[in-house]
Amino acid sequence: MSRRGDHFVVRPGGPLHGTARAGGAKNSALKLMAACLLAEGRHRLAGVPRIVDVEIMAQVLGAIGVRVERLPDAADGGPGDLVIDTPATLVPEAPYELVEKMRASVVVLGPLLTRAGRASVSLPGGDDFGSRPIDIHLHGLSMLGASFETVHGNIEGRVPGWPGGRLVGQRVVFEYPSHTATDNVLMAAALAKGTTVIENAAREPEVSDLAAFLVRMGASIRGAGTSHIEVDGVDELHPAPDAHRVVPDRVVAATLLAAVGLAGGDVVIEDARADHMDMLLRKLEEIGITVAQAPEGLRASAAGRLHSVDVATLPYPGVATDYKPFIVTMLSVADGVGIVTENLFSGRFRYVDELRRMGADIRTEGHHAVVRGVARLSGAPVRAPDLRAGASLVLAGLAADGETVVSAARHVDRGYEDLATTLRALGADVERA
Ligand code: EPU
Repeated sequence: MSRRGDHFVVRPGGPLHGTARAGGAKNSALKLMAACLLAEGRHRLAGVPRIVDVEIMAQVLGAIGVRVERLPDAADGGPGDLVIDTPATLVPEAPYELVEKMRASVVVLGPLLTRAGRASVSLPGGDDFGSRPIDIHLHGLSMLGASFETVHGNIEGRVPGWPGGRLVGQRVVFEYPSHTATDNVLMAAALAKGTTVIENAAREPEVSDLAAFLVRMGASIRGAGTSHIEVDGVDELHPAPDAHRVVPDRVVAATLLAAVGLAGGDVVIEDARADHMDMLLRKLEEIGITVAQAPEGLRASAAGRLHSVDVATLPYPGVATDYKPFIVTMLSVADGVGIVTENLFSGRFRYVDELRRMGADIRTEGHHAVVRGVARLSGAPVRAPDLRAGASLVLAGLAADGETVVSAARHVDRGYEDLATTLRALGADVERA
């Protein structure tokens, strides 16, 4: 990763024109990397984005004893494949320094338990948008027979009777369709004894991608992508026969769609999949962004002022919480009043104060935001509170008079390869300083 300044400098711009790429999904790539723990040997993943979170996951795997190598960039400028070499014996520990940097590290818990009989994973930190417990993960893995205690800030998990004992398939009912808890239980169940049924499973396309990868590794899984997943445990998995390509990143695609909404223009987003963003696309139509299928992906166009809508975030296939900062930013310059309701993360409205500094008229009450569109935002120094909110402040700068400086740009690097260059290629005036 090249060294870049920690600020984005954004000046008003648009209309945007050209082609940008959604790339591989962060929230699938991280889990596919963890899944490589399940089988000894050489694994290969294609389309893994060159982002900081992937580097952190590579370090987590490194601490476990796994070698992760990035091959040179592809001929079309895309990322080179990731080659992951998993040894026969693992060090089943994910240390604090790494888990603290990235909450998603917790997805090594399931694979380590089922493959090594033991796991010590620091309690996760991560994005600063509200309390994010892992009780659903622990409940699911306990149902398969794992036992847990918290020791010095670490979750210490064990499989009773190991090495003779194994996790045992069970019916697991989630009280909420947690995305990463589904990933964890799915991976653990792949090597458990007998059949696991996950009820109220998360249905995200990234969960289906993980299941598809596991099946290519020899797992037996039915129902991924629905809320009822069945896994027949097998004794051993093997590396997939060839490189597995990561599913496209629907949140990066949404970021680019919102950029078109805010700056106007006509842009093709390569790889973007409409069938992974149904509810969002419906809302974007109402807002005034036209999205059409194109041979390479999706083509988005917008001109003139956007229209307000009401939006509530919900688990997939609802409108994802990750899209919300982009929606709130669009509504802040749209015609009318929109009410946005956050149903997943209690603290995920913190960026609203930053948008207000830019002249947005937003009132928050509990998990609702009432957004009254203003004609134009006004550039200001603001701070990225987290990954998606940081990206949305950059987009806000496209629709603001004068200069917007977004500090703490490092948050954005967690999930975007190089947002400034991507937007500049479309004609926007954005740079890193
Ligand atoms: N929850 C619990 N207990 C648990 C797990 C979750 O109470 O054990 C609660 C959470 O506190 C939250 C809700 O359930 O209120 C949703 O959490 P979920 O577990 O579904 O989220 P996640 O798996 O931790 C993933 C993505 C997030 C994305 C959410 C929602 C990854 C690595 N992260 O998180 O992505 O916002 O699903 O779709 O897959 C991002 O990319 O920036 C990001 C935060």
